[in-house]
Amino acid sequence: MHSPIQLQQIIEEAIPNIEYPNHPKDLYEPIRYIMSLGGKRIRPVMVLMATELFTTEIHKALDVALAIETFHNFTLVHDDIMDNAPLRRGKITVHEKWGVNNAILSGDVMMVESNKHLSKVDLLVLKPVLDTFNATAQGVCEGQQLDMEFEQRTDVSIGEYLEMIRLKTAVLLGGAMKLGAIVGGANSVDADLLYEFGENLGVAFQLQDDILDVYGNPEKFGKQVGGDIIANKKTFLHLKTLTLAQGDESDSLTSITVDQDIKVNEVTSLYNKYDIKELATAEMDKYLTKANQALDSLAVADEKKYQFRELVQQILERER
Ligand code: IPE
Ligand code: IPE
Ligand code: MG
Ligand code: MG
Ligand code: MG
Repeated sequence: MHSPIQLQQIIEEAIPNIEYPNHPKDLYEPIRYIMSLGGKRIRPVMVLMATELFTTEIHKALDVALAIETFHNFTLVHDDIMDNAPLRRGKITVHEKWGVNNAILSGDVMMVESNKHLSKVDLLVLKPVLDTFNATAQGVCEGQQLDMEFEQRTDVSIGEYLEMIRLKTAVLLGGAMKLGAIVGGANSVDADLLYEFGENLGVAFQLQDDILDVYGNPEKFGKQVGGDIIANKKTFLHLKTLTLAQGDESDSLTSITVDQDIKVNEVTSLYNKYDIKELATAEMDKYLTKANQALDSLAVADEKKYQFRELVQQILERER
């Protein structure tokens, strides 16, 4: 069995070998750029890990893993336009480097490239693979739409937030697990349990992402710290603070300050006052526990589950 690090190496070696056309240059350069910036490669590793639970032939899942990573990178390119983000993985974002129109079109082509990877999968599993991928991709778009709508709203509930992050982030981690399981030949009960594991892990993952957006070390995080506060994102931290703040304290959360640094500082102080980081971490733990419970029910040997537990631990400890 491969360790997650070994699987990550397999992905890292496969990505530069993906062939994209050279012309038009400004269509394909952004794709090479974003795909080569690294990142944790969590989703494709999850695909291969899920496959390896059921078969030693993990090469069968490599194209699905590349499809998922390409799709993920496409969502990042478009997400950075929507979030007006200057930095990604410590480097300038695609739309800042090539312009918004180029970023839109290169993103579109990445979606096509994902499908080209998927079409290489064994014909026997092609239909369930496409169905799972499409359901996942559509869920991500629904979540992204809600995320944007919430920026303009002041009455978002924590329940609505959790549903939004389930869609924008968690379904992709769930989908990665399920796709890996399908390619590995899992039965539908196990494939669904792995989906459940991935989805709960995904909710925890986005909660952690929201925590890091405020509390991350700028050197390691690779994105603009405070970006969610500036964009008026309705994160768990924001919404929980609204329920705890007294009197006019919550004004800083909703204010439109001209100076972004002032707003980030004010809001962070308010979060600190109410121990929001700890409350968000406790919420994250709930979902990690649910993820572990799904794993408990899975009908595979315990020693094979070990690295999934490790993955849960890594999510807890990640800094980027
Ligand atoms: C970023 O995902 C988008 C979210 C769902 C929070 P990752 O944190 O997995 O990004 P990379 O691929 O490692 O850069
Ligand atoms: C991630 O949400 C969801 C998707 C990219 C689909 P964020 O907007 O929080 O992701 P980052 O923080 O920019 O990576
Ligand atoms: Mg976003
Ligand atoms: Mg973003
Ligand atoms: Mg984020």
